[in-house]
Amino acid sequence: MATQLPTTDVRIGADLIRRRKGGTPIVCLTAYTYPIARLLDPHVDLLLVGDSVAMVLHGHETTLGASLEMMIAHGQAVMRGSARACVVVDMPAGSYERSAVQALASARRIVGETGCQAVKLEGGVDMARQIAAIVAADIPVMGHIGLQPQSVEKDGGYKIKGRTDETVAALIADAQAVEKAGAFSVVIEGTIETVAADITRRIAIPTIGIGASGDCDGQILVVDDMVGLTVDRVPKFVKQYADLRSVITHAAERYASEVRDRVFPGPAHVFSKTNGGDDA
Ligand code: KIV
Repeated sequence: MATQLPTTDVRIGADLIRRRKGGTPIVCLTAYTYPIARLLDPHVDLLLVGDSVAMVLHGHETTLGASLEMMIAHGQAVMRGSARACVVVDMPAGSYERSAVQALASARRIVGETGCQAVKLEGGVDMARQIAAIVAADIPVMGHIGLQPQSVEKDGGYKIKGRTDETVAALIADAQAVEKAGAFSVVIEGTIETVAADITRRIAIPTIGIGASGDCDGQILVVDDMVGLTVDRVPKFVKQYADLRSVITHAAERYASEVRDRVFPGPAHVFSKTNGGDDA
């Protein structure tokens, strides 16, 4: 039977996420900063410090711009800003593919320097040895199959997976390899809906969908896409729940015009010798 979430502020661990298979959908979002983690923490089960941070916050063209240092710095900020959510930090491209030894050293550094609950890495059959080595060292791993953004250059773009019998079979094999290697959950990205639903039925660990299926055990979106803050490409599968681009644009327009018209700062925003005290 699926386990329910605790109602206290106790940090959710990877094991609790694993036991949510088939229960109330697991709510996940990316977070990269302290204030966003503070705002999201009460509402989500899992915060992913995704390597999408390289594109979303740092302006790189692909997630290949992420480094171990970048992921650790953002992981630390998200840990400081959250008390309850299970925090998972992405392993950036180049930090784990070469060997199980390399993967374990990088995972140990991420967990040691951030205190996060788990790491995530992209790949299925080809990364099973890496996953197994990290899990054997008691570090929980989340898998990531289907569209793998770290392979976007190799794939010639962001391509939906599972349109042919051959690629469906490969996806199922990837999901089963990730499960067998000991991952506690797996992200399925950019896949045909029925394929993601079928994989969800076939494996015993929770599937977290993004551009996948409502039948997955949970859902994840990039937070900046979800709140309408992303300035570059937004994938078709995103639902935008707010329009923060407009909110910020209007605020900047009003601020600029008030500064030019000498309306800001007004009397409430300046100090005199007789009022306001010493604290800014
Ligand atoms: O890096 C990321 O944000 C991700 C999610 C899209 C799952 O991997």
